[in-house]
Amino acid sequence: MNLGVNLAGVQLKNPVMTASGTFGSGVEYSEFVDLNRLGAVVTKGVANVPWPGNPTPRIAEVTGGMLNAIGLQNPGIETFCKRDIPFLKQFDTKIIVNVCGKTTEEYLEVVERLSDEPVDMLEINISCPNVKEGGIAFGQNPCSVEEITKAVKKKARQPVIMKLSPNVTDITETARAAEAGGADVVSLINTLTGMKIDIHRRTFALANQTGGLSGPAVKPVAVRMVYQVSHAVKVPVIGMGGILTAEDAIEFLLAGASAVAVGTANFHNPSATLDIVRGIEEYMERYGMEQISDIRLR
Ligand SMILES: Cc1cc2nc3c(=O)[nH]c(=O)nc-3n(C[C@H](O)[C@H](O)[C@H](O)COP(=O)(O)O)c2cc1C
Repeated sequence: MNLGVNLAGVQLKNPVMTASGTFGSGVEYSEFVDLNRLGAVVTKGVANVPWPGNPTPRIAEVTGGMLNAIGLQNPGIETFCKRDIPFLKQFDTKIIVNVCGKTTEEYLEVVERLSDEPVDMLEINISCPNVKEGGIAFGQNPCSVEEITKAVKKKARQPVIMKLSPNVTDITETARAAEAGGADVVSLINTLTGMKIDIHRRTFALANQTGGLSGPAVKPVAVRMVYQVSHAVKVPVIGMGGILTAEDAIEFLLAGASAVAVGTANFHNPSATLDIVRGIEEYMERYGMEQISDIRLR
């Protein structure tokens, strides 16, 4: 039995990775999780310069998940390259750096800075609902998705994953635009825009008013979108959104994902990723499957 998957020429030992922004660069989690056992670590979004993020409160629990409006707080690419990449290089796992920006030029500055770094893939976040410019503004319009993908592909030395937003009417349009722009892989879903109001304080639960919904509540939407996108494009799909258990991950693999990412689950079960790797292995054993692609619905 072989759990390995190949994403645009990058060989992962298994299809399980962390979802950006829920695992830092693995420093805190490495006490609980043997990072050598992950298919890949996907880092928190990094920009060309440090970003302070949004005012607090920035997270709120809701039924079946959480809302966040972190606003892509990050230390900037210089600190990231000095501090986070050397840390991750100690482990036998693939490194996927999530990139954010407010303008195309800002994204490109980060992509170019990473070209000489020992990074395996880039994930371009064009789908963050929590920043005023950039982010989702790029991700909701198929024309701008294609343009920014083309621009990134011209500069990138590593394979490029475009991370798609679920906050659109038809996600296959933006997926096709990313593919047309040259994306090597697409990942989905980012968070769904939501809002919580505190009825006693009579105000918004988040200072940003709106936030991104993640966790089990979004899973059926995510599975549907992964199914649609994996039938609309030829490039591999990384599926995520509400994965807590191996059963959840397997549902995404059945829907057509080549790999999966685990986000919000890390907050209440730091070793969720490893439980999921083990569970996928047991499932394949049980049904006599040889490789991950055998799981996919035919
Ligand atoms: C606190 C938090 C921070 C996040 N930060 C990022 C980020 O920096 N870049 C990004 O592309 N997605 C970010 N996401 C989105 C997740 O990577 C993922 O797409 C989403 O949460 C759905 O997966 P989940 O339900 O397993 O959490 C963040 C999500 C959360 C909850």
